[in-house]
Amino acid sequence: MATAVMKRYVWGGAVMVVLAACQTASTRVFDGQGQVVCNVAEPACLRAVYSADSRYWPKPQIDDGVVFQELQPLSPNPPPAPEHPEQVALGKALFFEPRLSDDGQVSCASCHLPYQGFAEKSAVSTGVYNRQGRRNAQALMHLGSAHGLFFWDGRASSLEQQALMPLTDHVEMNQDLAKVPSILKQAGYEPRFQAAFGEGINIAAVAKALSEYQRTLRPESTKFDAFLLGDKQALSDEELQGLHLFRTKARCMNCHTGQMLTDGKLHNLNQTLAGRKWEDFGRYEVTQNIEDWGKFKTASLRNLSKTKPWFHHGLFVNLQGVVAMYNIGMREGLAKGAPAESHQPHLDPLIKPLNLTPDERRAVTRFLETL
Ligand code: HEC
Ligand code: HEC
Repeated sequence: MATAVMKRYVWGGAVMVVLAACQTASTRVFDGQGQVVCNVAEPACLRAVYSADSRYWPKPQIDDGVVFQELQPLSPNPPPAPEHPEQVALGKALFFEPRLSDDGQVSCASCHLPYQGFAEKSAVSTGVYNRQGRRNAQALMHLGSAHGLFFWDGRASSLEQQALMPLTDHVEMNQDLAKVPSILKQAGYEPRFQAAFGEGINIAAVAKALSEYQRTLRPESTKFDAFLLGDKQALSDEELQGLHLFRTKARCMNCHTGQMLTDGKLHNLNQTLAGRKWEDFGRYEVTQNIEDWGKFKTASLRNLSKTKPWFHHGLFVNLQGVVAMYNIGMREGLAKGAPAESHQPHLDPLIKPLNLTPDERRAVTRFLETL
């Protein structure tokens, strides 16, 4: 058997013995039972390999020094009941309460739409008096597990701190915090604050209630979770190829890692749009530290299909286009008038041209759609 190797595919419990010719593209992989040699470019091989526990999956392509977590399913069990249900219920009411805004028209839910993964449809937000913001509203769905960096530039370090910022933001709700207790009192909230906190209406309790509600927001399970939880037919061959590329050649897991597909860190992806209408220097605007030039927080890719448009500027509306941008290594075309700083290279070293073929790019896109 010099020209053929024995391969064991474990598929739906049955062990199939497959004889295959030795190929140069063959890779040594584990199928959960032991080491096998098969070619992961073959759909049957890929499915056998990814049907095993994730410990046996092919090694991801991760650069030195990057802390990596394997992809994890959302728990199939309902989340534990919140410790303070009255606070959560009050927070939910406040989240949908337009009277909290200066013109009485804008609530948190105006920009964070529940049926859109709590993100929004337009590129950038519109707040009170139709004032236009400069960034795309982030999806709110895994805030209990967030890493202490809120907003695209990480400028808030806790949800409680974050919650009051949109209330007073000139564009968003333009409210004077000193007026909030009387507005809520008039709107009949006093008994609900008493029940939830054992005290009258106050700003700290508003922030706490909003935060407790937001901590209960979870992404929806998708067929990607079904796959990770053992339904090995949940992904098509193409989607599975996309998963493999996402972990390997496409390098996505250097940043989109773990259960929520984010490292919670800030990176420069050449997305400052320097010199253009929507220019935005991200973290640098907060710290004035040149190291932070153009850094934005890695977005979770959970429920991606619902949170369109994408990126902090909301200018990407097509996932195939996003993959194409990554494929060419996020090249930046600088506009005239871009500030001097933007001419220095700032691109995160984890971003590199990928050389994905058109079929591979389509597979990655199909995979993203399953999230
Ligand atoms: C006018 C639209 C608008 C309104 C109203 C609004 N938000 Fe936002 N929200 C945004 C935008 C835009 C961002 C991203 C801003 C940034 O990064 O600078 C954001 C970001 C957030 C984040 C950060 C999420 C993360 O992953 O870092 C949270 C939490 C949040 N909003 C909660 C709220 C709450 C609570 C309210 C109501 C009190 C609210 N928002 C009202 C548009 C809005
Ligand atoms: C160096 C870290 C890094 C790598 C590698 C990376 N990303 Fe990202 N990704 C980010 C950051 C940071 C953002 C947010 C950038 C912004 O808004 O300006 C983002 C945003 C996205 C978004 C938009 C999500 C949303 O809700 O707005 C998608 C889709 C995405 N990445 C897919 C991918 C894919 C596919 C790959 C692999 C081909 C990949 N990323 C590789 C860091 C990374």
